[in-house]
Amino acid sequence: MIKTRLTERFGIQHPIMCAPMAYVTGGELAAAVSRAGGLGIVGGGYAGTVGGEPDLETELAQAKSGKFGVGFITWALERAPKMLTKALQYSPLCVFLSFGDPSPFAAEIAQAGAVLICQVQFLSQIDMALKVGAAAVVVQGSEAGGHGASRSTFPFVPEAADYLKKHSPETLLLAAGGIADGRGLAAALMLGADGVVVGTRLWASAEALTPEAHTDKAIAATGDSTIRTKVLDALRGTPWPKEYSLRFLKNKLTDEWASRENEAFSAFGTLSEQYAEARARHDLQTEAVVCGEVVGLLKDRPTAESIVNSMVSQAEGLLRDGGTLNFTSQL
Ligand SMILES: Cc1cc2nc3c(=O)[nH]c(=O)nc-3n(C[C@H](O)[C@H](O)[C@H](O)COP(=O)(O)O)c2cc1C
Repeated sequence: MIKTRLTERFGIQHPIMCAPMAYVTGGELAAAVSRAGGLGIVGGGYAGTVGGEPDLETELAQAKSGKFGVGFITWALERAPKMLTKALQYSPLCVFLSFGDPSPFAAEIAQAGAVLICQVQFLSQIDMALKVGAAAVVVQGSEAGGHGASRSTFPFVPEAADYLKKHSPETLLLAAGGIADGRGLAAALMLGADGVVVGTRLWASAEALTPEAHTDKAIAATGDSTIRTKVLDALRGTPWPKEYSLRFLKNKLTDEWASRENEAFSAFGTLSEQYAEARARHDLQTEAVVCGEVVGLLKDRPTAESIVNSMVSQAEGLLRDGGTLNFTSQL
């Protein structure tokens, strides 16, 4: 058992949260992670403001059998704030907000008795989270799958740990980005985190809503195969704030466009129909397979329970035997 401030305060067994991945973390995955002793956070994504997302209320109803949270992309939630009100009716333990200013939503979340978790991409965003009373700050490194920015997990986590120790010692710190096994979990705890947020590893789990064609391609790939770029959002016309980019597997679209960012912004939205068609056909030369650098560690698509269990047992072994400096036996 690895006990941290996160497991104590959230009443969970393991210091592992499943990221609220848009289109991917439905009720089944969130519930499976929670049953395994972590905490599953249903992906409320764009709050229904872009097409094709699963029905959030259906997913929340499915997650409700146990502890769960719900997450939103903050700038999108600003366009559909009623989705938060609806989600809160399902009594989530926490609301996870990322990519924008959480302040318009903090009071409603607190009134509903839910805990606020803010994911940040820059040290300078931590104050925004502290100002609205976030119980936990997630620092997301650039290695992460999906949207993110430029900081790297390894230096970002200890810098944030030092910052919180000085400015708000009671606030929990979680690490996200590049954590897919017990080595990553143990390292994050050593860097000063109270727990981890896992995306890509659980994206390739039996319960995730991820299309099989995506995980097949990912399992065959190495960590060299991902790219972080803004061109796709520009071309498909998704109005992401300029500081964020998307990490996914390189394909024909990125071969053509990755080095032409300015041109892609000038062509904002012009590929939206073509992209929607490619997506419907799962034409992976155009459609993005959204996952992080840890894709190189994926070999299979096991259950969420086995992912959580093996992360924890590997981390326990490493942390227990760390003093012997004999790590190789654990790998
Ligand atoms: C497919 C996918 C979708 C994601 N969607 C969201 C999202 O809707 N909201 C969010 O806050 N983070 C989202 N993320 C980022 C995660 O919150 C998390 O930071 C990231 O997955 C951690 O890095 P990892 O993928 O290396 O585990 C997404 C990640 C992936 C892989």
